[in-house]
Amino acid sequence: MRILLVGDVVGRPGRRAVRALLPQVVAETGADLVVANGENAAGGFGLTRETTQELLDSGIDVITTGNHIWDRREMLACIDEFPQMVRPANYPPGTPGQGMTVVRSRKGGHPVAVINLMGRTFMTPLDCPFRTADRLLEELGEATRIVVVDFHAEATAEKVAMGWHLDGRVSVVFGTHTHVPTADERVLPGGTAYITDLGMAGPMDGIIGMAREPVLRHLLTALPHRFEVAAGPSRVDMALVELDPRTGRAHAIQRLHRYFGAD
Ligand SMILES: [Fe+2]
Ligand SMILES: [Fe+2]
Repeated sequence: MRILLVGDVVGRPGRRAVRALLPQVVAETGADLVVANGENAAGGFGLTRETTQELLDSGIDVITTGNHIWDRREMLACIDEFPQMVRPANYPPGTPGQGMTVVRSRKGGHPVAVINLMGRTFMTPLDCPFRTADRLLEELGEATRIVVVDFHAEATAEKVAMGWHLDGRVSVVFGTHTHVPTADERVLPGGTAYITDLGMAGPMDGIIGMAREPVLRHLLTALPHRFEVAAGPSRVDMALVELDPRTGRAHAIQRLHRYFGAD
């Protein structure tokens, strides 16, 4: 069984790139499930009902999110309309939405649990993501052995720690949030595929997807500036995980990327 993972989708350029490229990538890789982080899908900040639906219509089966989940206020009201969407599970009890969902793979109809967690280092300190992961796995019990974890975090060490914490207990731990792919993909000894950060699906000539000028002016002046999604060609960063659906153990993880709108 193969699961395709896509990094943070940034704004309209990211959505367009995913929509254009995903069918071909899925056909080429034989992916049975596509999981993408959508926290930046609407203008770079959060998601709307419409952008969420657009991502799902583009062939994404499960949308994970992160710290930008509530940037668009309408998401507070509509998140529960999307059973294929998760927000970090370690938000306080009572937060709208869900931190874990179980869906079926395209081929074979295998149940797959997708969990979203958020790091605490250099981010809003939520409940402990490590203990939250333990609790969710206990909750999941024998429902499925195929478990996909998006750890949305800033610090590489915190993400590496989560990989080891969950090794042998989940199929894959992938990092998101930095929008910069890391080259450390591997299968850990217990059979968990791991990568510190997938990267993003978004404009490659910006600063992690945002237009350069306002970001640079902000850095040079320390004054507030309105950030906007960059224009130009996009890069779509992904990883493909191969696993045994009976055991949930991963055999392989491979990074891949595609360009869209480039000359
Ligand atoms: Fe992001
Ligand atoms: Fe983020």
